Amino acid sequence: MSDLAGQVALVTGAASGIGRAVAARLQDGGMDVLSVDLLPDPDGPGVPFEADLTSPEANAAAVTTALERFGRLDVVVPNAGIQHVSPIESFAQERWDTIIAVLLTSPFVLAREAWPALRESGAGRFIAIASVHGLVASPYKAAYVSAKHGLMGLVKTLTLEGAPDGITANAVCPGYVRTPLVEKQIAAQAEAHGLPEERVLEDVILAPHVAKKLIEPQQVAEVVAFLAGPHGAPFTGAPITMDYGWTSR
Ligand SMILES: NC(=O)c1ccc[n+]([C@@H]2O[C@H](COP(=O)([O-])OP(=O)(O)OC[C@H]3O[C@@H](n4cnc5c(N)ncnc54)[C@H](O)[C@@H]3O)[C@@H](O)[C@H]2O)c1
Repeated sequence: MSDLAGQVALVTGAASGIGRAVAARLQDGGMDVLSVDLLPDPDGPGVPFEADLTSPEANAAAVTTALERFGRLDVVVPNAGIQHVSPIESFAQERWDTIIAVLLTSPFVLAREAWPALRESGAGRFIAIASVHGLVASPYKAAYVSAKHGLMGLVKTLTLEGAPDGITANAVCPGYVRTPLVEKQIAAQAEAHGLPEERVLEDVILAPHVAKKLIEPQQVAEVVAFLAGPHGAPFTGAPITMDYGWTSR
């Protein structure tokens, strides 16, 4: 019997990339999973739930749906994300607002709405997919870097508030992971850095990784499964960096 069996998880951004791998891994571990996404995949892992997480009401509805459908909620994985690459002087206001809504306000609303259920769980887990960009910056990513740094503050605050109720809060901080989010920014990175697209992966994306590799989504999912399980209990308030040495410099 798996350590995770009988528990319930809510994973956002579960139709693609890291979120999809996390939902699949938690489901394989025996959990019931609500797979929340703007464009849910009916054939993907978990029970699909459509929500535009820029809306606080949609975040609340996701929590309510998990509780109605499964009767409890033990693990919340705020993961949905978007990126926008632009120099500061031409960074569109609308892009800033949307990125802050998805990457920072959504995790806040999910935490607030899920808190009573996480308390009732007895071993509630809030496992945010942050980023190495919650710890360090890169140029042309003002909104993303700001939102991820803000998310680190939210995780620390939840750590302090959750401890008396056995709730842990952590931030997984990967370097570059092989997902559509990275593939989609190659053209914009080429333009911002004045490079041909074929040089972006090596010269820009992999430049900060000491080992010149991309992380695989399944590697992030294994970390989330560990944190969700009983051996993850002592981890709280932790930035869990998995960045091929990026932040060692
Ligand atoms: N890929 C990387 O290199 C990397 C590195 C560090 C951290 N991250 C973080 O991991 C998380 C997942 O990224 P990914 O690379 O798997 O991206 P992805 O683009 O493959 O998947 C993101 C998912 O989020 C969903 N989403 C976006 N906006 C939404 C909204 N308004 N409402 C509901 N769902 C929405 C998308 O539909 C998509 O399915 C993000 O928070 C990202 O910042 C990614």
